[in-house]
Amino acid sequence: MDITGKQDEWLQAIAAASDGPAVAELEARLFGQKGEVLEMVRSVTSLPREERPAFGKAANGVKLTVDKALAARKDGFAQIELNKELNATDFDPTEPGPRARTGAMHPITIVQNELVDLFTSMGFQWEDGPEIESEYFNFDALNIPGDHPARESQDTFLLSDGNLLRTHTSPVQVRTLQRLVKQGFEPPLKVIVPGRCFRSETVDKTHEHSFYQMEGLVVDRVQKGENGATGISTANLIHTMKTCLRVILERDVEVRLRPGFFPFVEPGFELDVNCPFCSGKGCSVCKQSGWIEILPCGMVHPNVLKEGGLDPEEYTGFAFGMGLQRVVMLRYGIDDIRHFMGGNLRFLSQFPEVPR
Ligand code: DAH
Repeated sequence: MDITGKQDEWLQAIAAASDGPAVAELEARLFGQKGEVLEMVRSVTSLPREERPAFGKAANGVKLTVDKALAARKDGFAQIELNKELNATDFDPTEPGPRARTGAMHPITIVQNELVDLFTSMGFQWEDGPEIESEYFNFDALNIPGDHPARESQDTFLLSDGNLLRTHTSPVQVRTLQRLVKQGFEPPLKVIVPGRCFRSETVDKTHEHSFYQMEGLVVDRVQKGENGATGISTANLIHTMKTCLRVILERDVEVRLRPGFFPFVEPGFELDVNCPFCSGKGCSVCKQSGWIEILPCGMVHPNVLKEGGLDPEEYTGFAFGMGLQRVVMLRYGIDDIRHFMGGNLRFLSQFPEVPR
């Protein structure tokens, strides 16, 4: 048998097959039961023994070549079919893919993260406390005894088991002091406590029942020298607060202190910042005063230090309680506190996070 001639004939037939079905037909003719190629290979048995090895080798070579050519032709037509199908749809492989919507940081989280970064860079440590708090830590330990009017004014959510939802982050002051003193830790101590607080308030433009605060506490030993005693003072408080507000409000700030009453500090202050909207000239946001009340603070009350396990003769400190929503509102010019928990994606997706 002229197997080389056969090979040429088959390869020509493959090249001549004009579409998928023609290739399929050819495949059946060559490789099906009694297919011509297979028959050729099998015909080796009819040859004299000595011719068999050479023929077998050549026949297998032809089989492989033809098989390969057939497969390539088949693939070619399959690809053409596929392209036809793709072209028949609206699929445009050059069109850029749809952009997946990514989440955005909540503005309170953004500002809280920035504050935590800032304070930790100044050597503060982050402390946490429970949202379900005892009366003792929320009030008594902070020099707010049972009959104190401040308890009333805090509109506390009381729980049936005698605990309550903390009304501020201040309880973590005493919790931290007690824990560290028990561990034998000696001040200096600088902590911040970001966290959620709750008050039974009627919600309006400026009030929320759930809100975020960041408490700060700095305590150090009083140094007694020839010129009297020095320790943590109001000057340290003002400097820290000014630095913090400058970073968060992204501009130079002026601050002023007014007396403020909080049982856990003495003296207590309300710290005001010059209005970022009118630079202190007077506008509707600052009610023409040029100043905006931004955070309450003060020098830690001796009773609080005592409750924390420290001798107020030996240690002094300052504390502050920043309302995070308030700072966020000032930073972004947001005029209604209800936006924060409103769940409106148009509001929530507009705050770019500054790369940290
Ligand atoms: N805990 C107070 C509140 O929510 C705020 C506060 C005032 C915190 C003075 C302080 C402070 O640390 O020194 O209303």
